[in-house]
Amino acid sequence: MTIRIYVPKDACAIACGADEVAEAIAAAALASGQPIEIVRNGSRGMLWLEPMIEVVTDQGRIAYGPVDAGDVEGLFAAGFLTGGDHALRIGKPEEHPFLAKQTRLTFARCGIIDPASFEDYRAHGGYRGLERALTLGPAGIIEEVKTSGLRGRGGAGFPTAIKWKTVADAKGDQKYIVCNADEGDSGTFADRMIMEGDPFELIEGMTIAGIAVGATKGYVYTRSEYPHAIWAMEKAVEVARANGMLGANIAGSPYSFDMEVRMGAGAYVCGEETALLDSLEGKRGTVRAKPPLPAHKGLFQKPTVINNVLSLTAVPHILADGGQFYADFGMGRSRGTMPIQIAGNVKFGGLFETAFGITLGELINDIGGGTATGKPVKAAQVGGPLGAYVPTWQFDLPFDYEAFAAKDALIGHGGIVVFDESSDLAKMARFAMEFCSVESCGKCTPCRIGSTRGVELMDRIIAGERVEANLVTLTDLCQTMKLGSLCALGGFTPYPVLSALNHFPEDFGAPPRVVLEAAE
Ligand SMILES: Cc1cc2nc3c(=O)[nH]c(=O)nc-3n(C[C@H](O)[C@H](O)[C@H](O)COP(=O)(O)O)c2cc1C
Ligand code: SF4
Repeated sequence: MTIRIYVPKDACAIACGADEVAEAIAAAALASGQPIEIVRNGSRGMLWLEPMIEVVTDQGRIAYGPVDAGDVEGLFAAGFLTGGDHALRIGKPEEHPFLAKQTRLTFARCGIIDPASFEDYRAHGGYRGLERALTLGPAGIIEEVKTSGLRGRGGAGFPTAIKWKTVADAKGDQKYIVCNADEGDSGTFADRMIMEGDPFELIEGMTIAGIAVGATKGYVYTRSEYPHAIWAMEKAVEVARANGMLGANIAGSPYSFDMEVRMGAGAYVCGEETALLDSLEGKRGTVRAKPPLPAHKGLFQKPTVINNVLSLTAVPHILADGGQFYADFGMGRSRGTMPIQIAGNVKFGGLFETAFGITLGELINDIGGGTATGKPVKAAQVGGPLGAYVPTWQFDLPFDYEAFAAKDALIGHGGIVVFDESSDLAKMARFAMEFCSVESCGKCTPCRIGSTRGVELMDRIIAGERVEANLVTLTDLCQTMKLGSLCALGGFTPYPVLSALNHFPEDFGAPPRVVLEAAE
């Protein structure tokens, strides 16, 4: 009997040696005469266990990890093909606390299915959303998305249904769906994981968006650093087309939609929607002034929906199970689930999808297990390089757009980067300014010039030169960047800088802050 073994083809697993593990398993099986089938799946998101392999046994799928090619001989000797005992045996992955505690909607199939198999996708509920969307028609789809309360997962949290309605109402002989898969935020990898582990879900989400707004063409814009995601997406697009789910008359319906994958060179600013459009048009990625909104004049000046991968991949579930089902998860105006990425100096890093409302402390300490170094946590930067440094005394903050905004912080794309007590937040603040100066598109003065002056100021502060006076100038500069920048790159760089300064003044050579726990 042929035994099926799953070895992830996820970029993280490959970086940790998954290809070599797959080769070693194939060679060992050949030598022992045991027929096996190796399926290259996505990652389950428990990244500290990668490469995590799974074997299909009578008891279900049994996982082992982190496996090195050198472990394979021992695994065969321990009878891993039938789920045998071994030091690396994890057991049933779905029973592992990291997975068992999650509410997986967007990531429900990731790591379970063969990402290249259309049949596997369908067998696990794929295209149920599109089937229902075809019965609802454009207005019905937008209504369902509105009911779900879905907000853009790319950073700004803008209501998806409003964006779609604007494009649906806009006049244009051609409309576009653009998927923002640039994923430039530090500590984020959810877009990549989905594209590598469940690419048909993104195709389905974009197709539903196309039907909703009357767009017949879509583009996935991603970066050159994501070759495995590009490969997986392009393969899935071909397969979907061959199965009548892309192209003319999708699934025999009157609707047509097709799509392509495009690669940018990897500039952070090309994740900003208008710079992305310029880059997609073959120009240098520079931010456009708004208005006009991309919804009115976007790609090639045509009405365009731009959504993040996670916004679009939430859509098939919303359509399949109903907007209300999705809206029943979450808190306040943050509805549904958020695929949160736990990274940095953390013991158990990975992808954790859960309903909004979980606290930062639960995520970092309970789920993430604290720091990898074992030292106390000092802070976490949430929401990418433009996000605030949140100190431990604010770890009761629930994952919710409004709760974060109230603390001058942001959820962004859901990335958390953990720092231990040895981190120097003044150096991190300098890094935020330097990042802005390197990545600035140069269109507006507060960001182009301000970030360079900011780096110079930070250097003087770190060197202990006229600290008090330079801190006043830095605060003033941050205010100018916040209020005067054309886009959020310049406008949000002050958040990591000022949060570091406000919460950890001693790192800047200023008097330490007195923390009143109860008053926070
Ligand atoms: C400097 C900068 C970088 C950004 N990078 C990304 C990105 O990598 N991915 C993303 O989806 N949105 C990014 N955004 C937000 C986009 O401009 C836009 O709000 C988003 O793609 C809209 O999709 P959504 O409504 O689904 O979130 C960035 C914004 C700025 C200002
Ligand atoms: S804030 Fe920076 S990145 Fe944004 S438009 Fe201005 S110069 Fe360009």
